[in-house]
Amino acid sequence: MTLDASALDTLFREARTHNGWTDQPVTDEDLHAIFDLLKFGPTSANCSPARFVFVRTPEAKEKLKPALSAGNLEKTMSAPVTVIVAYDPKFYDQLPKLFPHADARAWFVSSEALATETAFRNSTLQGAYLIIAARALGIDTGAMSGFDKGKVDEAFFAENGWKSNFLVNLGHGDASKIFGRSPRFEFAEACQIV
Ligand SMILES: Cc1cc2nc3c(=O)[nH]c(=O)nc-3n(C[C@H](O)[C@H](O)[C@H](O)COP(=O)(O)O)c2cc1C
Repeated sequence: MTLDASALDTLFREARTHNGWTDQPVTDEDLHAIFDLLKFGPTSANCSPARFVFVRTPEAKEKLKPALSAGNLEKTMSAPVTVIVAYDPKFYDQLPKLFPHADARAWFVSSEALATETAFRNSTLQGAYLIIAARALGIDTGAMSGFDKGKVDEAFFAENGWKSNFLVNLGHGDASKIFGRSPRFEFAEACQIV
């Protein structure tokens, strides 16, 4: 089945990156609903390395604040929720549960480089699934890489060793704060069919 045009607009054509937010909250139920969709997005060997910290309380926002770049400060501090999309570098310890029909853990324990590349690639994908899942549920997003990863890791992951990848603000967007839509490539500029 194909989604109708209005669903495609919601997910892609009319979805925008947001910089300001209305007072409408994002509930814990919304966060569960987003996760319960994004978790079905594919990852290699089903490794699911992403870990998500939903930063909502003023105390947690204050912990995040010193790591934010100047341009990302105000919109992040005012967002109903900011997601730290992170990954667990030891994601492979969960593979006996997540990929039980093969000894996939063994592929990664012997190569830290392969484990890191796999964790980064697949957690990035899972962050993208989060953006699309949020949009599908009527929640606006604003992704950000403009922050100090070391500071976030120290503030949030000193104990569990997770590594931050990127941030995503969640809320209901204030349309007056959206930038003009930047150009996109035509098919021929970015694609080859060989
Ligand atoms: C991984 C990622 C990192 C980004 N980092 C930032 C950022 O640090 N600050 C910012 O204002 N926008 C950031 N953006 C937003 C992009 O600039 C924006 O998505 C792009 O220009 C397209 O805008 P549109 O979705 O409204 O068409 C980021 C987007 C992504 C996906």
